[in-house]
Amino acid sequence: MASALPLPSTILVVGSGGREHTLVRCLLASPAKPRVFCAPGNAGIAEDTTCFPVAVDDVPGLVALAQSERAAFVVVGPEIPLSLGLADQLIAARIPVYGPTADGAQLEASKTFTKKILLRHRIPTAAAGFFSEVGAALAYLRTRPVPIVIKADGLAAGKGVVVALTAAEAETAVREMLADGKFGAAGKQILIEDCLTGEETSILVVVSGRDYVILPTSQDHKRVGDGDTGPNTGGMGTYSPAEGVTPALLDRIEREIVRPSVDAIAAEGIAFCGTLFIGIMLTPSGPQVIEYNTRFGDPETQVVLPRLATDLLELLWTAATGRLAGFRLEVKPGHSLCVVVAARGYPDHYAKGDTITLPPSLPAGVTVYHAGTARNAAGQLVTNGGRVLGVTALSPTLREAADAAYAACDAIRCASKYFRRDIGARQLHRR
Ligand code: AMP
Ligand code: GLY
Repeated sequence: MASALPLPSTILVVGSGGREHTLVRCLLASPAKPRVFCAPGNAGIAEDTTCFPVAVDDVPGLVALAQSERAAFVVVGPEIPLSLGLADQLIAARIPVYGPTADGAQLEASKTFTKKILLRHRIPTAAAGFFSEVGAALAYLRTRPVPIVIKADGLAAGKGVVVALTAAEAETAVREMLADGKFGAAGKQILIEDCLTGEETSILVVVSGRDYVILPTSQDHKRVGDGDTGPNTGGMGTYSPAEGVTPALLDRIEREIVRPSVDAIAAEGIAFCGTLFIGIMLTPSGPQVIEYNTRFGDPETQVVLPRLATDLLELLWTAATGRLAGFRLEVKPGHSLCVVVAARGYPDHYAKGDTITLPPSLPAGVTVYHAGTARNAAGQLVTNGGRVLGVTALSPTLREAADAAYAACDAIRCASKYFRRDIGARQLHRR
């Protein structure tokens, strides 16, 4: 491991969610004691440090902010600024950045781009066809069994994937995307993919060219309701480690998916620096890639980063400016669990502006990360998004982490609060 340059003293974190609150907290905890600031941030981040009202899609504004505040390093949370070329612009301005350039961000922003790379490099993934015409797509559908998966090519806020159980459902999804423009430009190209079965897991990998460090495992809960029911969300809760991913399985995933993915991306000429967040289906014939994201997961970040004993700043800075090969990641013992407190109605319609009262003190090991929060004109803390808070507990056992996180969730006063009651339950009951 070699960090090419001394650790930076001033850092800009871009984003406004629970992921970014966690990044800010962990960077502030660095022994290097950097100044950390955020754009645009949220009410919780604003309690920890200065937030600047520059939107995540305002690339020139973010570069100008980094320059005027003399940021020596920028850490980018969400995918939108990455796909708009924020990292490219920062590199042009000679500011080191953690987060891929626009070509690397295409791995998340275009499912067609990614699937072609996966197939070209023979990385295990579902067979797929690529279409922009309704007629050709429907003809292909008739050759494939159901269930079948229809995917809009572009970023569709997690909504552009339909797992169709019948041929009629599949046809409707194809027509809605290609003929009716349901997802706008994101759905002008589609993929029709064979349906994989098995348990889903994901792996977060810090990548720097051909070098990488695999972060501790975690398990998300994507559906809104207890028992994995109801619509898909951005994630309702997580825990780490995910014991279902045994050391032997993780070895296999590294051999068959992580190493080949990092090599394939480099071979495609992409100088990738950032998080490769790989969605994986554990099928009966082995792990297969469902998708790549090119950023930290939310709420995976809220359980994975608090478990690092390694200085996060040293890890991200080494990825951006040095050589990651041989970097030794130190992980704290114990288990972490995060319950997402959402606004009732999420992921569909929900109210904003509802007041939140947090408990006056939290037990050791419990942290409330803010996501969709703001201050109203009276200065009160209010809801300002679908996912409002991420309550994380770090404890010796998963049971204690769950009990501590849920006690804190119960102590939060907010009329519209909603959260799943069963985060971690499957791992707890597996024992
Ligand atoms: P994606 O946005 O590609 O991650 O897809 C969203 C969700 O759709 C995934 O988390 C899976 O639950 C499901 N999905 C995507 N692709 C497939 C597939 N080929 N087979 C089965 N389920 C899939
Ligand atoms: N938790 C899933 C995601 O960040 O996309």
